[in-house]
Amino acid sequence: MTDAVLLQAINITKSYAGVQALKSALFELRAGEVHALIGENGAGKSTLIKIITGAVEPDSGEIKLSSSTITHNSPRVAKQLGIAAIYQQPALFPELTVAENIALGLEQTGMLGRVDWRERRRHSAELLAQVGARIDVERAAGELTMPEQQLVEIARSLGAKAKVLIMDEPTASLSEEDTQNLFRVIRNLRSAGVGIIYISHRLEELPVIADRVTVLRDGRTIDTRLMSEVNRQALIQLMVGRELSAVFPKKEVALGDVALELRQLGSSEAGIKDINLSVRAGEIVGLAGLVGAGRTELARTIFGLTQADQGEIVLRGKHVRIESPSQAIKHGLAYLPEDRRRHGVILDMQIGANVTLASLDRLSRYGVMDFKREKEIAADYIRRLGVKTPAIYVPVSTLSGGNQQKIALSRWLVTRPSVLILDEPTQGIDVGAKSEIHALMTELASEGVAILMISSELPEILGMSDRVAVMHGGTIAAILDRKDASQQKILALALGHDLNEVEAQAKAVR
Ligand SMILES: Nc1ncnc2c1ncn2[C@@H]1O[C@H](COP(=O)(O)OP(=O)(O)OP(=O)(O)O)[C@@H](O)[C@H]1O
Ligand SMILES: [Mg+2]
Repeated sequence: MTDAVLLQAINITKSYAGVQALKSALFELRAGEVHALIGENGAGKSTLIKIITGAVEPDSGEIKLSSSTITHNSPRVAKQLGIAAIYQQPALFPELTVAENIALGLEQTGMLGRVDWRERRRHSAELLAQVGARIDVERAAGELTMPEQQLVEIARSLGAKAKVLIMDEPTASLSEEDTQNLFRVIRNLRSAGVGIIYISHRLEELPVIADRVTVLRDGRTIDTRLMSEVNRQALIQLMVGRELSAVFPKKEVALGDVALELRQLGSSEAGIKDINLSVRAGEIVGLAGLVGAGRTELARTIFGLTQADQGEIVLRGKHVRIESPSQAIKHGLAYLPEDRRRHGVILDMQIGANVTLASLDRLSRYGVMDFKREKEIAADYIRRLGVKTPAIYVPVSTLSGGNQQKIALSRWLVTRPSVLILDEPTQGIDVGAKSEIHALMTELASEGVAILMISSELPEILGMSDRVAVMHGGTIAAILDRKDASQQKILALALGHDLNEVEAQAKAVR
């Protein structure tokens, strides 16, 4: 980190109808530093970013780049000045090739709009090589995995010679390996003098990647510290303004009958095979594995989003055929998908309607919706999950990312499922709300709900699960009891090592 101040946000204030998102917020970025920006869901992080990138206009305050005020900021102006942003959901055109996507962000087409295709491909390939990505520039962007798309975006910002690179929750859905690769790219950019604003809810990664950290709370800047001078506990306290106790409120629950049983389940479409797994009422089974191991595919197959062509699903002792999500819901299944910003909520719809969306049957009589009941239920979940919103009749699009996720979750909780499948339930959720969601899972389990939880966070898997099923290569490599599970074992199994070998190794270490 140098002493050269690159970017300053000075006394930024912004309110939306009824919500003051930022109150005289302050932020400073130096050249060659990774500056983490953290805070609870709804604290104002994304709003500040949008103001810096010119996507949103502040009510007051100024943005300075290399000491001069940016006067008429807009996405175009910010880009020309060398400010680039990468959002959690990559913003590429899925039908266009990688080269076209990179080029689109960079070139001004000539007067006749003629394009030098060869040069375009060469340049794209070179930029991708700089971020260590081996991606064919002729592939359609939509075919790439999330981490690959992210690298394409970073390559594009390299091409634009960005001085300021903003990343809003870049690792939220990355595997450990992809995260490490991203960090490597970030470090290279940093040593090239780029200033990086890094938003994340994964506090444990901050000491690894950040030089400084600024904490926002309720739209105000609480403090900026050197990362080496604060620990996790101190950060949490700055974020939430109080101490948080119980990390994983796991409770011993008397287990009931087997609620969900998978026998030799497989789907060639989903790339999974020979899945044998059962979840009992009151039990939380963690589903661990690397990205691509088939965890989400398994969840989608159980829920009827992908068709099974092998084996069977048994629900409370009864064989069932599930060919669509609506059949799954009728059988008492609920599934919170991973990509909630795309599949979890309907952005234009109000909060109340989103919460009750999957329970319309229960909330209407003779086809007439009971709006009073809807309102009560929505209000109840908003309170239980601590959703930050001025009212329940506002569209979900006005909520912060994390609060949208809480709405997606409550929609499924309202259906009172007997089997609940959660795909990365706390991804993008702040520390405070995370423990609220964990407490809620514990509560549901004690009410007899069978929970299958996919998570890439090993502490969450170990903290919440009664048993851990580890997937590798489209099937279950092993199932571990809570008392036998460890971070090391899960990782080894996820990487495809043999359980006997793993256990022998573990013994040798002891
Ligand atoms: N377009 C909008 N209309 C109304 N309110 C909005 C709008 N955008 C954001 N807000 C509100 O501003 C506040 C700050 O939101 P912001 O998205 O900046 O939070 P955040 O810190 O990024 O949270 P998260 O960690 O959940 O992503 C929230 O209360 C949110 O509901
Ligand atoms: Mg946000």
